Amino acid sequence: MLVTTKEMFKKAYDGGYAIGAFNVNNMEIIQGITEAASELKSPVILQVSKGAREYANHTYLVKLVEAAVKLYPDMPIALHLDHGDSFELCKSCIDGGFTSVMIDLSSKSFEENVEGTKKVVEYAHAHGVVVEAELGTLAGIEDEVVVEEGKQSYTDPSMVEEFVQKTNCDSLAIAIGTSHGAYKFKPGTKPQLRFDILEEVSKRIPGFPIVLHGASSVPQDFVKMVNEFGGHMPDAIGVPEDQLRHAAELSVCKINIDSDIRLAMTGNIRKYFAEHPDHFDPRQYLKPARAAVKEMVAHKIKDVLGSANKI
Ligand code: G3H
Ligand code: 13P
Ligand code: ZN
Repeated sequence: MLVTTKEMFKKAYDGGYAIGAFNVNNMEIIQGITEAASELKSPVILQVSKGAREYANHTYLVKLVEAAVKLYPDMPIALHLDHGDSFELCKSCIDGGFTSVMIDLSSKSFEENVEGTKKVVEYAHAHGVVVEAELGTLAGIEDEVVVEEGKQSYTDPSMVEEFVQKTNCDSLAIAIGTSHGAYKFKPGTKPQLRFDILEEVSKRIPGFPIVLHGASSVPQDFVKMVNEFGGHMPDAIGVPEDQLRHAAELSVCKINIDSDIRLAMTGNIRKYFAEHPDHFDPRQYLKPARAAVKEMVAHKIKDVLGSANKI
């Protein structure tokens, strides 16, 4: 069933696990994710970025998600806008069947962030939709916004209470050292999330669901596969999965994963073409790519998120 994240987050917070929020751009990705979640009896968030909407079209994506809802009627599925950057975009998704939106004004001033988020929250709540907001900026690429390394700012815990109280948002994305894309940490450095910031935030807003963006772990098997079969992605490094597991045990209720899906598909498609140079049927090379997405998502649900058997 298509639901908001309200109930999912409450259970996740109390149960010490997190819900996976996977970015979807096409049918195969939606199938891979929902097959895994359904087999493992896990709730799931399917999220659509502005770029995904431009690529695949709003209606196609909504209808594909509706197909998954029909196939798995008992599975709670939330349809979420990832990194909404304007009231108009959020409104269009709220009016167009989404159950959750993110308004990301984290690159603006605190006051502008509060004002803009509040406006989206008022419209969303009047329409039964929940809102994720963000405080603090991540390094990496968010749609068209590129934040240079070193220019990101960790979330200041002293600001979260006022922000949540003034905006009335339903969940909050914070910056504790994750970043978007496949190159999150420098080779030779030790990836370490700032759990001190997470704990300080949770102390100030107890019971409030926290979201982690840029939380792909960049599995090295996929990176090797890409590089072995003609790709060039040296030094692609992600967030260690044990740190994500720990975050899920704390107040993090939503963990965003996009790059790992891209790597699973790209590695497997490259491998397929290298091994079958004469094949040209998209169904042939998309099949192992879809299976790899399913396997990767199943692993996340069981070993990282802890959301199996929570339906
Ligand atoms: O945070 C960004 C997500 O990975 C979505 O990426 O804007 O390329 O669809 P995208
Ligand atoms: P990754 O690039 O780490 O997969 O992050 C995805 C994300 O945060 C989507 O909003
Ligand atoms: Zn993100």
